[in-house]
Parts: sequence; structure tokens; C-alpha cells
Amino acid sequence: MASAMRPTLPALLATEASMTHPFPADPIAAVTHPNPYPYYAQLRNGAPLIRDETLKLWVAARADTVRAILDDARLTVRPVGEPVPRTIAGGPAGEIYARLARMTEGDTHRVARQALVKGLGGVDIVKVRESSSREAAAVMARYETCDAALLDTLAFAIPVRIVAELAGLPPNDALAATVRQFVACLSPLSPPEALDNAHTAATALQAKLHALTRAEASTSPLIERIVSGGLEASEELPNALVSNLLGLFSQTFEATAGLIGNGIVTLATHPELIARLQASPADIDAFVREVARFDPAVHNTRRFARELICMDGATLQPGDAVLVVLAAASRDEASFHAPERFMLDRPEHALPGFGAGRHACPGEAIARTIASGVLAALVTGGFDFADPALRWSYQPSSNGRIPRFNFIGSHAS
Ligand code: HEM
Repeated sequence: MASAMRPTLPALLATEASMTHPFPADPIAAVTHPNPYPYYAQLRNGAPLIRDETLKLWVAARADTVRAILDDARLTVRPVGEPVPRTIAGGPAGEIYARLARMTEGDTHRVARQALVKGLGGVDIVKVRESSSREAAAVMARYETCDAALLDTLAFAIPVRIVAELAGLPPNDALAATVRQFVACLSPLSPPEALDNAHTAATALQAKLHALTRAEASTSPLIERIVSGGLEASEELPNALVSNLLGLFSQTFEATAGLIGNGIVTLATHPELIARLQASPADIDAFVREVARFDPAVHNTRRFARELICMDGATLQPGDAVLVVLAAASRDEASFHAPERFMLDRPEHALPGFGAGRHACPGEAIARTIASGVLAALVTGGFDFADPALRWSYQPSSNGRIPRFNFIGSHAS
């Protein structure tokens, strides 16, 4: 139980900034809200750590508090006593989850992270950019109309295909669908049948990756670097190497689709940027960087107190959960000048949407590069971002802001 003297959520509804979109009910509903940013501003103006008694969470929204929480070793990525969610423990997806760098702390995390940072850090970004543009252009050429299926393939299938290619897997059109099934195990919103499918997908992906890592000939420079970085291949099933390779697919899948999708939304809502990018495609990297700040793909992450923690006037009891609102930190004026403005020429600054501290995203450069390649293909390929038939809504999620598109009227949806 947490302290009785907790500050409460500000009276948000009383001061709704927009009549078009009433404020989200809470910071989880904010993730898929059409415009959660006025609400996030109110969270930042409240106490550094705000107690939400309904969600049974502490909420951190200011950039300095977000950073302090992510840097604090007393706050861990999983609750002590439940390293794997009960809903998947004991099955193949749970076995993988238990070994992921993203979901572990201590030595298991340190060894896996070091290997992944070495592996991903050595990736040739220029080649990633070339292959993502090429793949995106090829997908666009295959589709006769710009419909929802095209955007879905560009956003979801291409990033995972590029990462699979880096890992040495042969091109496989079914991979994205299998990864989509697997990532259901990471979401608390998934119903039991989706979790069953996640176990099946985990088994299929494990088999593929085991075959790859056992192959006689060296499979890929990425795997070589990960193995020499500390994650040895092993016969044991599942092992750390295979689990963390699979983790690269799941970390890539929805988040990079969110970045690409939020880029499309930004161009649809800021038509002045379309002409600028068409005239100067080199600005696409800066555009993607600013999208990742302005409307990030990952809105929040969680930490759990493993001991009593007194911080910023709040007392966290062991086991208390903290919702770390990365998307609110992304618009904190303490870190960013004129944070509510989309600025292509913004000076470089660490992006809260990729996390910070010991779990910070080691795939940021790859994700941004893939998104640049895909969006460049759309911009130069004549995709009509201003099409009045283009609509989107956000995929149900408690942390990822991932638009799904459709076209009303003349297009297929
Ligand atoms: C736009 C796309 C992406 C976003 C927004 C994103 C965001 C994040 C965030 C916020 C974290 C930290 C979570 C936390 O501390 O609780 C994280 C961790 C991680 N990301 Fe990404 N990510 C993206 C793409 C990728 C890609 C493409 C890869 C690999 C190819 C990747 C690999 C990882 C890994 C392995 C971790 C765990 C690191 C650790 O726990 O030490 N991510 N990512």
C-alpha cells in the first residue's frame, strides 16, 4: 500500500482544452486518444509523481522525473515476484519473455544488453536505409491503389523484414503475421485466444531462429557480433540468443509501425511539410526525428518499486507501479524549446520516446532509418497524404500509439 498523503490527479475534466476531443479519462486512455497532448501538459503541471488510485499507479510526466525513474536501479522493469506475466508463464512465449533484455534486470539483463548493443551498434545504417527504401518502393509498385493494405504492409511488414534480413533469415512474406501473433503476449489487453496464438507463434519463430543459429556457416554479421558480445548459441531450448533475436522482431514490429504511421499522420495534418520534403528529401531524417519527439510511437513504459522509495515528495511502497509517460516528457519545455511546435530544424536532443538509462532502446538508429526509408518512398512515390478519404484510428494499446489507416469512399478500406 502506498502513502496516505498522496497527491491526486489534477481536475482535468474541468479545464478541457478542446471541445472536439474531450480529455482522455486517464494516462492509459491517452495513448490512443486523438490528441492527448493538452492532457499530458496538465499532468506535467501537477506533482512530479501523481497517484492514480483507479489505475493503482504512480504517474510520472515531467522530463526530469521520467529520467530519474529510468535511471533508478530500485525501480525495475517487472514486479518482483512476477518476472513473467501470469497469463503466459509456463508456455513457450513465457520462456522467451523471461530471457528478454527488455524484461529482465541484473546479470541476465546486463549480458544480453551488452551483446545486443554490440550487435545493433555495428549495423550498416546506410544499407538499412537503401534496403528499406527499395523494399518500400517494390511494395508500392505491387499495389494498384493506395489502400489500407498498402499502408499496413509498409508500416508493419517492412521493418520486421529488414531486421530479419539483418539476422540472416531468408525473405518470408508470412513473417510479419507470425510476429504480430507473438507480440500479443506482451500486451495486457490480449484475450486468451490471442495468447494461445502467441505461444504457437513463439514456437514457430523459435524453431526458425534455432535452425539459423545452429547453421554451420556463419549466418549474419549481426548474429556474429551478438554471439561474440556475450550471447552464445546453445543447444538448450529456449536460449538467450534465440529469445533475444526474437525480441528484436517484437521490439521492432509495433513501435516502428507506430513511427511510420505517426509520420503519415503528421504529413496528413501538416500539408506544408509535404512540399518541403518533396523539394528536399534529405530533410526526411530530421522529419522522422521530430515525429519521434512530437508524436512518439511508445507513449509510456512501467517501473516497479522493489523497496520503499521516497522521491519527489511521494512515498512508493515495495511493489508500487509507476507509469513513466515518455510522450509527456517529449513535450516538456524544460527539455525542448517551443515543444508544441513541429520543427524540422530542432537541435539534436535525446528522444524520451526511446527510453533512457540502462534499458534505453539500442535499436533507435535502425528504427529511425527504416522509417526514413519507408516515408521517403511514400513522399517521392507520389502518395497523396492530403487525400480527404484518408482516415485513421489507433490500434488498442496501453502504451503504443499505432495508427491504422483506412480510406472512406472511393478506396478499399
Ligand atoms: C520507433 C521504433 C522504436 C521505439 C519507439 C522504441 C522504443 C523503445 C523504448 C522506449 C525502450 C525502453 C523501454 C523501457 O525502458 O521500459 C526500448 C527498448 C528496447 N528496444 Fe526499442 N524501440 C523501437 C525500435 C526498436 C528496434 C528497431 C529494435 C531492434 C532492432 C529495438 C530494440 C530494443 C531492445 C532490445 C530494447 C531493450 C533494451 C534493454 O532493455 O536494455 N527497438 N525501445
